[in-house]
Amino acid sequence: MGEKRRYNVALSGCGSAWTALPVTSMCSVAGSAQVQPEFSRSDLAAPPGASTQKQKVSRSVRRASTPWKLTTPSVVDCYMDTTRKVLLVSGSLRARSTNSALLRTAAHVAPTGVEALLFDGVAHLPYFDPDHDSEPLHPAVEALRAAIRGCDAILFSTPEYAGALPGAFKNLLEWAVGDADASSIYEKPVGWVNVSASPTGAADAYRSLAIVLGYVHAAVVDEACVQIPVTREMVGCDGLIADPEVRKGVIAVFDALVS
Ligand SMILES: Cc1cc2nc3c(=O)[nH]c(=O)nc-3n(C[C@H](O)[C@H](O)[C@H](O)COP(=O)(O)O)c2cc1C
Repeated sequence: MGEKRRYNVALSGCGSAWTALPVTSMCSVAGSAQVQPEFSRSDLAAPPGASTQKQKVSRSVRRASTPWKLTTPSVVDCYMDTTRKVLLVSGSLRARSTNSALLRTAAHVAPTGVEALLFDGVAHLPYFDPDHDSEPLHPAVEALRAAIRGCDAILFSTPEYAGALPGAFKNLLEWAVGDADASSIYEKPVGWVNVSASPTGAADAYRSLAIVLGYVHAAVVDEACVQIPVTREMVGCDGLIADPEVRKGVIAVFDALVS
């Protein structure tokens, strides 16, 4: 993927704002993205069956600048990169958001073979305007569409605001609707985790999300649309949710989404 920034979340205290530090355990994407080479010499050199090693090699390959041209289809088949990329999109801009914490935790516990990337550009998107949905696009819109095109599946988590989707999140979805590219959200597998612990369970927001995803003909994976209540107290100082049941639930969602 194009520019891929890895963040961890460090706190000087539980009540303070989170600070993004470059480390390896968390992922997020924003800014411009571009198609990266899928294969390299080192892919060809990887021993057959060494899947773990293969994934490590593959990740570094995506950061490399020199593509390696393959000409033998049978070799391509043998060494195909099987990593599934899942884009994580939170509908909340709140720094200590429970929805974002759930997705951050998802990136943290993503099973082998799944590369989960948290999209952090929601707040940078301009208001959707069909008059501006043409080249040259706003860089934040380019980044969103590139992130969506570059993933195999999308996982959403959003709060409900005033009986509906948060405006900033709906705005993101509207920009996603406008992308006519073959690898857009159209027919892409999607799921969601509803973390609401309220009595109404944010039902109106998720009804609305289902309607929007229907309009864009996203492939909603029913088994990957779940409710996993998360309270604010469950979010640790590291911005993650330690609760094993939550983590188990998230892993099951990944399984459903990429299987
Ligand atoms: C302006 C506003 C409106 C809200 N409206 C609703 C609502 O209609 N239904 C609901 O269940 N919760 C509502 N909530 C509560 C939020 O959904 C809840 O605080 C949620 O935890 C926010 O998600 P976050 O932790 O990811 O930021 C509202 C909160 C705010 C600030």
